[in-house]
Amino acid sequence: MNLFIGIDVGTSAMKFLLMDASGAILNTVTKAYPLEFPQPGWSQQNPADWKTALFEGIPQLLAGFDASQVAGIGCGGQMHGLVILDEADEVIRPAILWNDGRTAKQVDYLNQVIGKDKLTEWTANIAFAGFTAPKLLWVREQEPENFARIAKIMLPKDYINYLLTGVHSCDYSDASGTLLLDVKNKRWSPQMLALCGVSERQLPKLFESCDCIGTVKPKIAAVLGLPEQVRVCAGAGDNAAAAVGTGVVGEGGCNLSLGTSGTVFLSSEAFRPDPTNGLHAFAHADGGWHFMGCMLSAASCNKWFSEEILKTTDYQAQQDAIPKELLGENPVFFLPYLMGERSPINDTNARGVFLGMRMDTTREHLVLAVLEGVAFAMRDSVEVARRLGCEITACKICGGGAKSALWKRIFANVLNCDMQVPVSEQGPGMGGAMLAMVACGVYPDVKSCCKQLVSLSEMIKPEPDLAEKYEKRYRQFQKIYPTCKNLFPELII
Ligand code: XUL
Repeated sequence: MNLFIGIDVGTSAMKFLLMDASGAILNTVTKAYPLEFPQPGWSQQNPADWKTALFEGIPQLLAGFDASQVAGIGCGGQMHGLVILDEADEVIRPAILWNDGRTAKQVDYLNQVIGKDKLTEWTANIAFAGFTAPKLLWVREQEPENFARIAKIMLPKDYINYLLTGVHSCDYSDASGTLLLDVKNKRWSPQMLALCGVSERQLPKLFESCDCIGTVKPKIAAVLGLPEQVRVCAGAGDNAAAAVGTGVVGEGGCNLSLGTSGTVFLSSEAFRPDPTNGLHAFAHADGGWHFMGCMLSAASCNKWFSEEILKTTDYQAQQDAIPKELLGENPVFFLPYLMGERSPINDTNARGVFLGMRMDTTREHLVLAVLEGVAFAMRDSVEVARRLGCEITACKICGGGAKSALWKRIFANVLNCDMQVPVSEQGPGMGGAMLAMVACGVYPDVKSCCKQLVSLSEMIKPEPDLAEKYEKRYRQFQKIYPTCKNLFPELII
C-alpha cells in the first residue's frame, strides 16, 4: 500500500493527484465546476458539483494504476466557505464562498459593535467578509428558514471528507478561518458560538491535519474503485496544505500562493496574533501557527483579463509579446480588486482600476499592468508582515500563476526577495497527499515528511536595477487605493 491521493478542493476546479511514497506524482486530473455570482460581489458554489467532481475524478485518477495500493487520501480545500447540512445531512443551500462580499453589514456589526478587541481575544482575528461567522449571521438574518434547519456547519473540504467517510470533521488550520475557533487554545469559541446562535453540536469535531478521521465507507470505496480501509486524514485549508506541499513548516518559512486568490503565508512555531489585525493569525497544518495575508483576486485577474477582455486563453503568447524593457517602466497601473479586497485593506467596496493610460498605451502595457498590480497588492501584505518583524528574504511560490516565468520574475523584484520554486507547483493537492502519508504512518510528523519530499527546481533572484525601479513604482501604486477609496461605494450598482 504505497499510493496516496491528494485533493485540492479549489474554487475553479477540483484537482486530484496520485503520489507514491517517494513523493513522485504519478498522475493528475482536474475537474472544473462553475462558480456562481448571483449578485455583484456574491460568490457561491453548489456542493453537488463538488460531489460530481469527486466521483468522476478519483476513478479517472486511478485508471491504469493499481488502485489496491491506495493507502490514504488528504484534502486541501478552499477556506471559509459556509456549507450547511440539515438533520439528514442534505445540503441546505449553495455554499457561500471565501470571496463573497455580501456580509459587509455583519462584518461591521462584529468589528464595530462587538468590537475588534473582543473578537481578537476570543479568536485571534477580526471579521472579514469572507470568513464563515459573518455568513452565518447573514443566513440567520436573510434566510431564517434555512438557518433553523442547520444541523451541521462545514467547510468545503470537510464536506468531501464527510462524503468519503461519513464523519463530520474539521482541522485546526481551516477552522481558524471560520472566526468561530479560539485559535490559541484550539477549541470552538463559546463566545462566538453564542453570538452566532449556534451550538457546538452543530459544528464538526476538531482534528490536527494529519490525524486520521476514519476510513472510506465500503460502499463509497466500491464506487470509487478504492480498496477497503483507505485512511482519510483531516486535511487542511488550501493555504496551509500548500505550505506543506512547498515545505513551509516550522519557524520562519514563507510561501506565496498564486491561485484564484493570492496569499502570503508565514509559518511559525509559536502562537503570535497580529496586534494590528492586518494579517490572519491561524493554526498551521504542522501543529504550529501562521500569519496569512489574502488577496481575493490574484491569478484570477490574469484569467479575467485574458479570457473576458482579450478573449484568449493563450496567456503565454500575451506575456511573450511584452517588451522586456517595459518592466519597471510601465506607465499603466492596475488595482486588482475585482471582488473587493481582504488583506490588508478589508474593503468589500473596492473595485478594479486601470490608471495612467495614454494614446500610446498598448495591449502589452495592460497585460503587464495586471501582472504587476497583483504583485504590488501582494507586497502590501508582505509590508504588514515585515512591520511585524517577519524577515522575508526568500519565498516559496506555488499555484497556477507560478507557471509564468515572467510573473515569478516580477514578484522577485517587486518583493525584493528570492523566489524559490519547488519541483511541483501543485501546493494544496501535494500537501493533502503528504498529510495522508503522515496519517498512514509513512512519516512520523509533517515536518519530517516535508524534509524528505520537498525539493526546489529553481531560484529567481531579484535584479538590483529592476528591484529599484519597482520600488519607485510600488510607492506610486500605494497612493492609488487611498485616493479612490471614498469613490468606490458611490460606484456600486
Ligand atoms: C484564504 C482564502 C483563500 C481561499 C482560496 O484566507 O480565503 O486563499 O482559501 O481557496
